[in-house]
Amino acid sequence: MSKRVYRKKEVTDEMKERAKELLKELTLEEKIGMIHGNEIFATKGVERLSIPPLRTSDGPMGVRAEFMPDSFTRIDDNTDSVTYLPCNSAVASTWNRDLAYICGRTLGSEARGRGKDVILAPGVNIKRSPLCGRNFEYFSEDPYLTSELACEMIQGIQENDVAACVKHFVANNQETNRLNVDTVIDGEVLDRIYYPAFRAAVQKAGSYTVMGSYNKINGEQGCHNKETLKDTLRDRWGFDGVIISDWGGVHDTDKAAFSELDIEMDCSSDFDNYYMAEPLREKIISGKIPEEVIDEKVYRILILMLRLNMLDGAKRSKGAYNTSDNREACLSIARESVILLKNEDLLPFDPDSTKKVLVIGENADRKQSDGGGSAEIKALYEYTTLAGIRMLLGGNARVDYCLGYTSNTRPEHRNIGWQSESLMDGGGSRAKAAEEDEKLRKKRRELREEAISAAKDGSYDQVIFVGGLNHNSDMDCEGNDKRDMELPYEQNELIEELLKVRSDTVIVMQAGSAVSMERFADKAHALLWSYYAGMEGGKALAEILYGEVNPSGKLAETLYRNLDQCSAHALGEFGLDERVEYKDGLYVGYRYNEKYNIVPRFPFGFGLSYTEFEYREPYVNTKEGYISCRVCNTGERNGKETVQLYLMGEKDEPVKELAGFEKVFLIAGEEKDVKIYPEKLLPGRRYIITGSGDSIRFEVECEENIDT
Ligand code: GLC
Repeated sequence: MSKRVYRKKEVTDEMKERAKELLKELTLEEKIGMIHGNEIFATKGVERLSIPPLRTSDGPMGVRAEFMPDSFTRIDDNTDSVTYLPCNSAVASTWNRDLAYICGRTLGSEARGRGKDVILAPGVNIKRSPLCGRNFEYFSEDPYLTSELACEMIQGIQENDVAACVKHFVANNQETNRLNVDTVIDGEVLDRIYYPAFRAAVQKAGSYTVMGSYNKINGEQGCHNKETLKDTLRDRWGFDGVIISDWGGVHDTDKAAFSELDIEMDCSSDFDNYYMAEPLREKIISGKIPEEVIDEKVYRILILMLRLNMLDGAKRSKGAYNTSDNREACLSIARESVILLKNEDLLPFDPDSTKKVLVIGENADRKQSDGGGSAEIKALYEYTTLAGIRMLLGGNARVDYCLGYTSNTRPEHRNIGWQSESLMDGGGSRAKAAEEDEKLRKKRRELREEAISAAKDGSYDQVIFVGGLNHNSDMDCEGNDKRDMELPYEQNELIEELLKVRSDTVIVMQAGSAVSMERFADKAHALLWSYYAGMEGGKALAEILYGEVNPSGKLAETLYRNLDQCSAHALGEFGLDERVEYKDGLYVGYRYNEKYNIVPRFPFGFGLSYTEFEYREPYVNTKEGYISCRVCNTGERNGKETVQLYLMGEKDEPVKELAGFEKVFLIAGEEKDVKIYPEKLLPGRRYIITGSGDSIRFEVECEENIDT
């Protein structure tokens, strides 16, 4: 393992000269056309000078469907079914930098293949509360883990001559009233928790674009905020790329014009009346705003186009979508994203001796791709877990299925107008869970009884429950936050009864955000967690259940027992409409639990394997700046382990903070020295080396005098 080297495409003198030349030739109208949406997902080109439109597309899980130029109506001509990648939470659970890079490379290739210039990803907002509707689009509660994986993803994207657009800058950690809520955050907390992933994205990975957030930060809208966009992003971090508003994030012509924002996007088709369109042109003509103000914006857009080889006939990557390589990438990521939370000698199953299996739960057979808001994907296909199990067992076993519970909505209930509507009521209102009438309760009772009756049939070799959440508008979906952490649709009742009749029922949670598992976690003998893991997710989960793959995922977020264990709710404010003060400060996620000795249901960094690992011989090499230890696979199965390094806090600081990690593959019986290079080894400080099991833990001290 060595320190990662990032390839950042610098702006050359030739690019600067060319951009200045083109800028001189552009008329005011042409320049205005380049700084605001002229289609829902594109700006206006300048045909006279062979300057193309800048074409953008969502999202973190693949390239979104093609829309009509002036509305969120899909063209649906069947040329835009694509590779559906695992969500960023799934990528984070792999703790695998190489896979994060492969995910980005795949996303960038698909975007180029679909003719896009900017892919609106990755989302790197910190998971501050399990209630946030967009947690599935984000990586982690920890800024270092988010930074490391996002940088790899950005590198992979931009290798395809496509710009990454790291979002949403900054502190977009709730969906409730997302357009107007004012997030009030102390400077040090911004610097240590909410900024780091963005800073790494632009300084280390060289993200070409950044998306401003909807919310206000300390009183000013994210898309024209001086403290964040100018003082921090431009002046402190030296960001020379393009800043794009979130869709509908601009609220004022003068503020936008004089801000660092370069491109205004919106959901409205009234393109000429965007704040940075006619209203700005008129103010420039009347002399109220100097034309130089937009020259800077257009200059940065031209530099972006030159970096992407969009101008002067430069040779540009062609990309490709729906390739077998891209699908293979999905499978590799999905395999390493699944987290084994509990296993009392139940898993893995033996496929050869399996003759009859009962699978229960709506999520076992529910496709999740085409939902969640702007991250929705029109997938070429999607393996559900049920399909994955049936395929893996082939014709050699009977696989029966019971719905078990119903969410009472299925993905096909898409509301095409949701994105524009979500900006109508002040943006992102708290979800109103659908009233659950007596008829629905009766239906669920019948489904439960049917599943329990089937599970009582002793002829099944295995019973597997797959439940959790989905992208319905009142849970893992943009525009709304969840009302609570409860498992919906009476799943708890079903799981409790299943465990009574078949105590060996395997429980699989498929979700994009933490749910309470208190009703069954102690009773279950096997428990797995899978995020929305893309088109190959069902296949990967089946491979893990039947031992073809050894699970190696680790939690990138704390799975709390209840909301009182989460600092955003215990110390801070969350989900308020007008103003949310981040009184939780630095104590986000495990930083809070460790400081206040709160034991969550499953901690950050936790994840089991079908084999065992031992750690020996910790060693600090101050000269070369790494800490290492010997990791041994003492079990009978090959497996991957993530060694985690935490910096121990000093007084009045978080007890520990992730400072490094490395994932290693070991065949059964093999041992390797694993070196971890933190950003900087700190003299005199103490570090913890730990792995998946609680038993693994070394404390080491870095000598005072680090001789460089
Ligand atoms: C949405 C989202 C953003 C997305 C954009 C375009 O409202 O906040 O993540 O990329 O608008 O759909």
